Amino acid sequence: MKINFITGNKHKVKEAKHIFENFGIEVQHLNIGYPEIQGELIEVASFGAVNVSSRLNEPVIVEDAGLFIKALNWFPGVYSSYVQETIGNKGILKLMNNVNDRYAEFRSVIGFCKPNSEPVTFLGTVRGHISFKEKGDFGFAFDPLFYPEGYKKTFGELKTEEKNKFSHRRKALEKFAMWYKYYRGD
Ligand code: IMP
Repeated sequence: MKINFITGNKHKVKEAKHIFENFGIEVQHLNIGYPEIQGELIEVASFGAVNVSSRLNEPVIVEDAGLFIKALNWFPGVYSSYVQETIGNKGILKLMNNVNDRYAEFRSVIGFCKPNSEPVTFLGTVRGHISFKEKGDFGFAFDPLFYPEGYKKTFGELKTEEKNKFSHRRKALEKFAMWYKYYRGD
């Protein structure tokens, strides 16, 4: 059993390979790019999956993720990569200055599509809160700002293997793998 994973990110491929191994699913990595529309994660992942599966004429998965902060009306959300490149973690901390409700979630959506079919999506979420300063050198992007619920360390202070045991991406990838292997019915 095999699946094409369309992404420009090698870390995501490594993570997917590791998880899918347990399900006997082989990952074929293709870095071919696809249009990212403005919209919710589910819309972005669905559109991307439909686009690439019809171009390749094969089943594919794509992934879209972001950080959603409650007190900022769930900003940066789908703008996460742009916000990370522009105002960065320091900018987010400024926006969160004097904000008491620091609840936030990382969300990841896997979009699956096979040619001439409707896309299917799988959501993975990690609940947590935003720190008062950046902590930790592991991980990437918003990791040093995010305390997952029940942890006294930020994602940036957790080794990648530890974070990946319960990351938003892991949850979405696992949901997909379970469905792909056991339930998809074709
Ligand atoms: P992408 O969809 O994986 O490209 O994620 C969009 C943006 O969300 C990234 O550029 C990061 O800024 C942020 N992001 C997504 N997942 C994570 C994560 O696990 N840690 C930190 N930042 C993340």
